Amino acid sequence: MKKTLLILLTLGLFACNQQTDNTKDLQDQINSLEIKLTNTYKPGFGDFMGSIQAHHAKLWFAGQNENWDLADFEVHEIMEAVEDIEEFHKGRKETELMGMILPPLDSISKAIDQKNAALFNSSYTSLTNTCNACHKAVEMEFIFIKTPDTPPSSNQGFEPIK
Ligand code: HEC
Repeated sequence: MKKTLLILLTLGLFACNQQTDNTKDLQDQINSLEIKLTNTYKPGFGDFMGSIQAHHAKLWFAGQNENWDLADFEVHEIMEAVEDIEEFHKGRKETELMGMILPPLDSISKAIDQKNAALFNSSYTSLTNTCNACHKAVEMEFIFIKTPDTPPSSNQGFEPIK
């Protein structure tokens, strides 16, 4: 009886020891994954802004050409970049201000749905004013956004495909 107990106890201790080994392996794996994660490339706030800038410009030419499908696409690209900022740059003061861009984007979406060029133009002006309002709020009024004079890229057509 005593012997069996001793054997069981030894086995038990062995199992415990085994478990601590596994836990240590897992902890090591977690640590190395954490290091990998911190070193993973994450686009900066300014990278997303550069993308928003390009879509903002294309949106204008899509609207002026009444290419409503392309305009709709460009609005969604801007929205996606806004969502990415909210996900990848959580907790920053600038990110908390991001919501201000939604009303003008909604208004542009409405104009696109209604194929309403006048509403598109006035909503686009308020979108651009919102870009600058935020840049001002974060003391970067030197980043001044305006309605573009020329398309951002010469290799993309803006007229609707007939
Ligand atoms: C909620 C605040 C906010 C809004 C809204 C906003 N921006 Fe920005 N923008 C910033 C911040 C913050 C930076 C600086 C990013 C950095 O630190 O790299 C910036 C930087 C930029 C830059 C500079 C990138 C460069 O390299 O020159 C451009 C261009 C830009 N924004 C375009 C726009 C456009 C176009 C809109 C509107 C469609 C817009 N932004 C709306 C906060 C905002």
